[in-house]
Amino acid sequence: MMVTIKNGHLIDPSQGIDCLCDIIIENGKISGIQQLEPKDKGHSARDKVRGGKGETVIDAEGRLVIPGLIDMHVHLREPGFEYKETIQTGTAAAARGGVTSVCCMPNTSPVNDNAVTTAFILARTRETASCDVFPIGAITKGQKGEELAEMGIMREAGCIAFSDDGRPVMDSLLMRRALEYSKILDVPVIAHCEDLTLAAGGVMNEGLLSVTMGLRGIPPQAEEIMIGRDIALAELTGGRLHIAHVSTKGSVELLRQAKQRGIARVTAETCPHYFHITEEEVRGYNTNAKVNPPLRTRQDVEAIREGLRDGTIDVIATDHAPHHADEKRSEFDNAPSGISGLETLIGLSMKLVDDGVLNLSGLIEKMTAAPARILGLKDKGCLRPGSDADLVILGTKNEYTVNPEGFVSKGKNSPFAGWLLHRAPAVTIAQGRIYRWD
Ligand code: DOR
Repeated sequence: MMVTIKNGHLIDPSQGIDCLCDIIIENGKISGIQQLEPKDKGHSARDKVRGGKGETVIDAEGRLVIPGLIDMHVHLREPGFEYKETIQTGTAAAARGGVTSVCCMPNTSPVNDNAVTTAFILARTRETASCDVFPIGAITKGQKGEELAEMGIMREAGCIAFSDDGRPVMDSLLMRRALEYSKILDVPVIAHCEDLTLAAGGVMNEGLLSVTMGLRGIPPQAEEIMIGRDIALAELTGGRLHIAHVSTKGSVELLRQAKQRGIARVTAETCPHYFHITEEEVRGYNTNAKVNPPLRTRQDVEAIREGLRDGTIDVIATDHAPHHADEKRSEFDNAPSGISGLETLIGLSMKLVDDGVLNLSGLIEKMTAAPARILGLKDKGCLRPGSDADLVILGTKNEYTVNPEGFVSKGKNSPFAGWLLHRAPAVTIAQGRIYRWD
């Protein structure tokens, strides 16, 4: 099957492309990119978009075309928590949000700490998914932090990274071993950085607001101490360390120093909620703003934006963490942490361009080429001939109001309800399969 996307404004940071192009897809792969002469600009697209027999033609005139996004931090909840999300609903939400590669965290039930569970996830992906799923295996058995999982066997079964996300690996020797294996297996260890002894059961950022609200706070140092430790262990081992969901100013500074020294092989991600909103969202005991690590202060938000701008933070990921409405309806202390993020990723991230933090190409790089490089996904995050035909055609200025009740995801837990965003995906193509939204 052949698909041609005509007259789109293609931005592919992996190839330094930012121009008008026709893109040709054959059998789920990119087969060619034809740069259009500037004089083609403004031609009536009408007579150019008629396809031949067996050819689907999509008119992208006036629209941005970008590689399908890679979200390297997603909770798909299957197996075990299908009432929150499934591989089917989570990948459908991903496609709706312009994400064509989903990396799923192992905190399922059972935990993805063995090759059989990994194989199950991949089988369910083949049967039900709208896009690609890349499993992330647990670092420790049952994510208990006591004994390493069989990382080598899980790597062979298809895990592309390892993480105990949702929990830190408190034992430094175990983390050292995991980083040693990451070097041998050439995969990243994704660290959920939280010193549990210092976090001490906290449920929001520690500060005046937590005291006022009578809630137990988590100081930023709970994250920073562990980032410091893990950078030190990455230096010791030469292992591949990736820091998940960076939320504090101090964390950005530690990462910046580590990168400047050029010793540790460290990369990092943050999420839209950490560069847009603060602990103020928690006021009124709003459980949709309860997330781990917690929302911080305006100073932290500014530091994270600066970290994105200067390259200290490599990747934007969602930490898509769907929960059932009944769970989020409970009292703040007991409600689970997490934000359903797949369907607001593009809109919220595009605001960084509007705010002058990143240019379009720099922004898209953080959701395509950068995660592909970190995860070793060679055919993803780019539109080079021969790579997978994963791409998104964005609407131009189609403003929309975020309405979580309308999410494809089962998780309606978003603190961004009512936000005005633009550039929703108009068409998502995942390995040549076409999903149209307009
Ligand atoms: O807010 C969060 N939710 N942070 C995590 O680290 C885990 C996640 C979840 O699984 O719900």
